Amino acid sequence: MAILSVLSAWIPLVLPLFLCVFFVAFLGYCLYIKYVHLKYDHIPGPPRKSFILGHSPILVEVMKKDGVVHDTFLEWAETYGPVYRINILHYVMIGVYCPEATKEILMSPKYPKDKFLYKRLFNLFGQRFLGNGLVTALDHEQWYKQRRIMDPAFSSLYLRGLTSTFNERADKLMDKLSEHAENKTVANMLHLFNCVALDVITKVQAVFVGYNCVFKIDFTVAHFINHPILFQFKPQNWSFINEVREASHLLRSTGAQWINQRKTAMQNGEDVPKDILTQIIKSAGQEESMTKEDEEFMLDNFVTFFIAGQETTANQLSFCVMELGRHPDILEKARKEVDEVIGMKREISYDDLGNLTYLSQVLKETLRLYPTAPGTSRDLIRDMVIEGVHIPKGVTCMFNSYTSCRMEKFFKDPLKFDPDRFHPDAPKPYYCYYPFALGPRACLGQNFAQLEAKVVMAKLLQRFDFTLVPGQSFDIKDTGTLRPKSGVPCIIKHRHTK
Ligand code: HEM
Repeated sequence: MAILSVLSAWIPLVLPLFLCVFFVAFLGYCLYIKYVHLKYDHIPGPPRKSFILGHSPILVEVMKKDGVVHDTFLEWAETYGPVYRINILHYVMIGVYCPEATKEILMSPKYPKDKFLYKRLFNLFGQRFLGNGLVTALDHEQWYKQRRIMDPAFSSLYLRGLTSTFNERADKLMDKLSEHAENKTVANMLHLFNCVALDVITKVQAVFVGYNCVFKIDFTVAHFINHPILFQFKPQNWSFINEVREASHLLRSTGAQWINQRKTAMQNGEDVPKDILTQIIKSAGQEESMTKEDEEFMLDNFVTFFIAGQETTANQLSFCVMELGRHPDILEKARKEVDEVIGMKREISYDDLGNLTYLSQVLKETLRLYPTAPGTSRDLIRDMVIEGVHIPKGVTCMFNSYTSCRMEKFFKDPLKFDPDRFHPDAPKPYYCYYPFALGPRACLGQNFAQLEAKVVMAKLLQRFDFTLVPGQSFDIKDTGTLRPKSGVPCIIKHRHTK
């Protein structure tokens, strides 16, 4: 009672003061936004939807309709490019579609990854997630130290040795496809490719983590990036968020367990494989002086490899099957090459993979139309002139491979699926095709992923006929990464009777 009477006496005094402070802060913020507009509005861009929210209502609308936000970026690039502006609150981002500027910024270590996006991935709903691992490390020195140590696990020598793992895991997928062929059941290719990619990454990190766990996290990261603020405050998402926290915790605790076992083996002088897990342990520093932060750091990379290395490859494989299903002539040509290079061999060698030139072209063309990780971004730390437009420092530069690869000025008839664009004699795309990003922060797993994809596709073409279930959509589901909306359901038949 006493508290209530004190409150009722104070509220009339405090409330106006609070409203006054709030009003002044709001006015100050609006003035700051106006200053930002004045500073950057000479850069061409679409009209803002709202003074404060800028262009974000347009993007949110696209996401609500389950559209592909990169198609909006494409429209803007065609209308306002090669450099255009987007405002969200007081942030300014610019889309860059000038090959020279792309080269200058992405190829240089001087431009850091953008803090706004990458810091968000440090934690996932209060649970440490990618932390300071390779993808999200912002500090150059910290990143460089890890990258140098991780590099050997992706060297061509080590990858050559991994070919048998790729074969073994792809054979498991072939067994699943055999079951579908024999039972005449529809195969959801996206699901099956997700399983095989997870199978490979768990094998090379030497651990087992359930499919559901990683899938749930992948899915959430996507929602978290696309709906950064709202997602966690909607009560209907709370039980899902709890499951994700648990999945994320499980991933880290499994990592801790396996890292400890491997560390013990290393300390006992046992012969351990030079795989991703061993390199992760080395990247964290000297074992005798290992701090709690070093331990966390190892787990950051453990989680990073699961997330970076699984879904992107699975989605690429699914899009590839989707496009081959739509283009019987290209499918036939790819199959003919596989028959010539591999014949009926069960084990595909590293050298065989090098001879599958047309299949490489098909995979590259798949990533041109469907870059499963569509872009990257950098902070502009000094003023720059891009195609005659002065860009004051302080903006975030967005580089979007989806957009540039669908622009007529870079690729003739861009929506046509045509692997001959990547014929060895064709001119190389000039800083407009970068599905693995470019420069020092380019994908570490690029060769790993493409070897894995080639082994899986070569075995699939060697052994099975597949047709797309009629009536399926060829749309893209944009969840931060890109995947086929339909899941690519296929009818599978054996090519050769066993
Ligand atoms: C088709 C498959 C893949 C695609 C399209 C892809 C694409 C990318 C892209 C665009 C980036 C830059 C991300 C950014 O700037 O935020 C990246 C970074 C990275 N990727 Fe991949 N990736 C693929 C597969 C893999 C695999 C299989 C692994 C590991 C086994 C992997 C490990 C990494 C790592 C560690 C980085 C961070 C590199 C650094 O900053 O030093 N990726 N990837």
